[in-house]
Amino acid sequence: MNLVFLGPPGSGKGTQAVRLAEKLGLVHLSTGDVLRDAVKKGTPLGLEADGYMKRGELVPDALIVGLIESRITNGDLSRGFILDGFPRTVPQAESLKGMLDKNGVTLDTVICFKIADGEVVKRLSGRWFCPKCNAGYNYPAQMPKTEGVCDNDGASLQRRPDDEESVVRNRLEVYKKQTQPIVDFYRAESLLTELEAQKSPDEVFESLLSQVS
Ligand code: AP5
Repeated sequence: MNLVFLGPPGSGKGTQAVRLAEKLGLVHLSTGDVLRDAVKKGTPLGLEADGYMKRGELVPDALIVGLIESRITNGDLSRGFILDGFPRTVPQAESLKGMLDKNGVTLDTVICFKIADGEVVKRLSGRWFCPKCNAGYNYPAQMPKTEGVCDNDGASLQRRPDDEESVVRNRLEVYKKQTQPIVDFYRAESLLTELEAQKSPDEVFESLLSQVS
């Protein structure tokens, strides 16, 4: 099964992709995670992407398309995949179609997560993570035992720089301008399924499972 998860920042794409990939044995490819890792390691990709990400803008299409193309052509995704955060622009969606056609791969469904802006701001202003083990927390629903400290290894929790409210608001604007148009692209291809994402993680997962099975 080959899926694309599409939706505003904070709509739960990453949370649900991890669960679904584990349940169905799929590869979860998050372009945001790949870019953050590149920034952390200071690679040329990371150095180029860093400023765009801090401002809540999209990194240039060419950087992202090259990254996905190498993963498709080297067979990395052959047991089925969830693309989380890609494509995000019409040119990226067109490039993906070309890459998949060229490699004889079919996309099964594009899941579009639906959520209100206010809920996004609330979720992202409460998001914390451990820089050592990557465990995620969300205040006040998922608090660590000691505020600001990871339950697993005692490291100090951090926030993503792009979760600062003004940057989140810019990410929402960028989503509406640059990413929303691909909803129509996939609707026209009869691949689009909408998912109500403003429910508890378990409820969203139940709906997701029923949509992909
Ligand atoms: P990326 O990392 O993809 O960010 P995003 O799409 O903005 O997604 P988030 O990770 O913020 O949210 P999510 O929907 O995955 O939600 P999550 O499950 O984490 O991209 C970051 C940046 O990289 C971009 O701004 C851009 O610069 C660049 N980039 C990436 N891909 C690109 C591309 N293709 N082209 C160009 N640039 C690109 O959940 C969020 C929080 O809410 C968590 O704390 C979670 O615990 C909580 N939560 C989840 N579900 C629920 C629920 N049901 N109820 C309550 N809380 C919940």
